[in-house]
Amino acid sequence: MTQSEMIHEINRLKKEKNAVILAHYYQSPIIQDLADFVGDSYQLSKEASKTDADMIVFCGVHFMAETAKILAPEKTVLLPAKDAGCPMADTITYTDLKQYKEKNPDRKIVCYVNSTAEVKALSDVCVTSSNAEKIIRHFEGEKLMYVPDKNLGTYLADRHQLDLDVWPGFCCIHNNLTVEQVQTMKAKYPDYEFIVHPEAQLDVVNMADYVGSTKGLLEYVKSSSSKGFIVGTEEGILHQMKKQTTGKDIVVLTEKLLCKSMKKTELKTLYEALRDDKHQIEVDQTIAVQARKALDLMLELSETS
Ligand code: 13P
Ligand code: SF4
Repeated sequence: MTQSEMIHEINRLKKEKNAVILAHYYQSPIIQDLADFVGDSYQLSKEASKTDADMIVFCGVHFMAETAKILAPEKTVLLPAKDAGCPMADTITYTDLKQYKEKNPDRKIVCYVNSTAEVKALSDVCVTSSNAEKIIRHFEGEKLMYVPDKNLGTYLADRHQLDLDVWPGFCCIHNNLTVEQVQTMKAKYPDYEFIVHPEAQLDVVNMADYVGSTKGLLEYVKSSSSKGFIVGTEEGILHQMKKQTTGKDIVVLTEKLLCKSMKKTELKTLYEALRDDKHQIEVDQTIAVQARKALDLMLELSETS
């Protein structure tokens, strides 16, 4: 089957099955262009919670599809790239967090959406990189534990008055960004703005002209008067940045900004999953009900002023 035949079939199957294709900004351009909706992890969660489709085909990583299933339990949710995990989400287990809570019963658990359903089920509230700063303000003055991203946790503690413990997890891609890389690129492109995702380490984040989620970075590039940008997040976002702007030069901080898990979704994997209803996401009922409470609170607090 040729690429255009496959695209034609995907669109046909989508209609036949009343399916919606959701894609994260880190997906390959061809997948982003085929999707009904492209967004950051927060937007995709919201889209999943309100869709009237019968089936959600999630082009992203496992925790994202699992979150969609928790928010839309009556829908069939497919993750075409079935072993596309997020290594950061795997840095903390249910047992780890349970033991932590037993030792620290006074700490509320704030959980990054990049986590398993089991970890969400033990948490008080979820956050994503686009709403973490807003949500954490509701918990100022309380004793908190942030799991599992040490970098986003450290960033929140640096910017707000918080009694915050942080789990030592990290994203292997963003955590590897260095001050030297920023200095080198700034020397090469002195007039460009440096923008970064908060999963990078604080010394790198502190060099940035703007810090935000993938959606935030995209919006910043669109609204800034700068003509050039050095981007400190996964290279997939450049597709929308270039598509949605004109006359701006956008470069990645380093060619190593590539998430292998995100790139596991290919046209063929997507087509076969949709054709055969393959790689359905299931979440244990008790875990899903508990995890949903933390996700619902996130959705509620994100919308309040
Ligand atoms: P966003 O919430 O910004 O989409 O980030 C998700 C992610 O996995 C970043 O590495
Ligand atoms: Fe996980 Fe990092 Fe990939 Fe985001 S970029 S999905 S945090 S491994």
